[in-house]
Parts: sequence; structure tokens; C-alpha cells
Amino acid sequence: MSRSEAPRGDRSIHVPPGGPPRIERPDPEIYAAMGEAAVFEMLADVYRELERSSIRHLFPDDMQAASERSAAFFVGLLGGPPLYQERYGPPMMRARHLPFAIDASGQRTWLACFDAVLARAPERYGFPAEHLDGFRAFLEAFSAWMINTASEA
Ligand code: HEM
Repeated sequence: MSRSEAPRGDRSIHVPPGGPPRIERPDPEIYAAMGEAAVFEMLADVYRELERSSIRHLFPDDMQAASERSAAFFVGLLGGPPLYQERYGPPMMRARHLPFAIDASGQRTWLACFDAVLARAPERYGFPAEHLDGFRAFLEAFSAWMINTASEA
């Protein structure tokens, strides 16, 4: 099945009214506790959830490669080295998500996939439990900024 990207030039882009998120970055202690390999494992599991989700069609065939691009970003976000910038250039996350039609329902599904993995993150990847709530709040606010398509009615 081909990836369903919205046709360019034939689509009105929705800009979330709140503007860019003003939310604290996740605590760098998270990366200090987990390290690079565990962040990559965690994102591989998030992408396994996405693979089985109703927004699978937004993603490329190669979910392994997609999870590695995301993991590189989360390494830096969680307090590690800037792997994403080194490998792929400036993050510009909202811009990079524009080709994919992301609405509020897609955001909820994406968050649910992440949440399923976070529920077991302390045991599986050594994610510090005391930073889970802060990280969830970050994901919620930041993912709202990825919405680029108005919800249907
Ligand atoms: C609103 C929910 C979200 C949806 C539906 C979504 C969906 C997608 C899709 C379809 C891609 C393209 C896959 C690829 O080619 O790699 C992607 C890439 C990516 N997403 Fe998201 N995303 C969401 C939120 C987020 C958030 C909150 C973050 C970070 C905190 C994030 C980080 C990334 C990164 C780092 C990439 C790789 C970009 C690249 O180098 O191509 N996404 N996302």
C-alpha cells in the first residue's frame, strides 16, 4: 500500500491556535539514566505500536528506519548528544510533519501508542519513573503542534 500523503497544493494547512508549545523540555536525567541503546529500544517499541495502529498508513514501509530517525531525535530531547541534527540536519519538526495529514484524532492515536510503551518504560528501559508525568505532558503539548489538518466535523 502506498503511503497516503496529502496532495500538495490542494489542501489547507491547519495551524494550531495556541502556536508553538511553551513547555519545559524533558528532564536530562532521563537520558543519563537510560543511555542511547535504551532510547532506541523504546522508540522501536513505539513504532511497533504505530505499525498496528489506525495511522499506520501515514508512515513509510520501513518502520525500522523510521524508528531510528525518531530515536535519534529523542536521544537529544531527553538530554543526550544531538544525534538527529548530526545525522539529518535541523529538526524543524512541524515542517517535517507537514507532508502528512495529522489531525486531532491522529494525534490521540500517536499519543496512545507512546503511552502504551511508557506504561512499562521504567522496567523495560530504565526510564526514571519520577519523570514520566513531565515527559507525558511534553509529548502532549509538542504533538499538538504537529497537527496540520482540521478534524472532520
Ligand atoms: C501528533 C502526532 C504525530 C504523528 C501522527 C506523527 C507522525 C509522523 C510521521 C508520519 C512521520 C514520518 C515518518 C518518517 O518518514 O520517518 C514522522 C516522523 C518523525 N516524527 Fe512524528 N508524529 C507525531 C508527533 C511527533 C512528536 C511529538 C515528535 C517528537 C517529540 C515526533 C518526532 C518525529 C521525528 C523525529 C520524525 C523523523 C523525521 C525525519 O527525519 O524524517 N513526532 N512522524
